[in-house]
Amino acid sequence: MGDAAYIAVAQVGELQPDEMKAFEHDGKRLLLVFADGDYFVVDEMCTHEDYSLALGCIKGRRIKCSLHGSYFDLETGVPDEEPADEPICSYGVKVSNGSVWFNPASRR
Ligand code: FES
Repeated sequence: MGDAAYIAVAQVGELQPDEMKAFEHDGKRLLLVFADGDYFVVDEMCTHEDYSLALGCIKGRRIKCSLHGSYFDLETGVPDEEPADEPICSYGVKVSNGSVWFNPASRR
């Protein structure tokens, strides 16, 4: 699988630090996050209940669900604060040619 698997989701500079952008791919709701100088693409919905993490906030390299306060590591998707105990998916991301790309087939 080569670079063809990557899909451009934003321009570099489009997001401010700690900003996120929700988008859909293949019927899936995803979230592009610019945190701590890096880009991450993760599932938009919290694994605890069906609640959008886009309504939460970024803390360092974690995203907080604003409904019950679970934190997810943006790189691994693993929750490190209850009540969520299932990880969200974090996808492969790269920056090239002034764009941010993600690979829906590659999970971190
Ligand atoms: S819905 Fe996200 S922590 Fe409960």
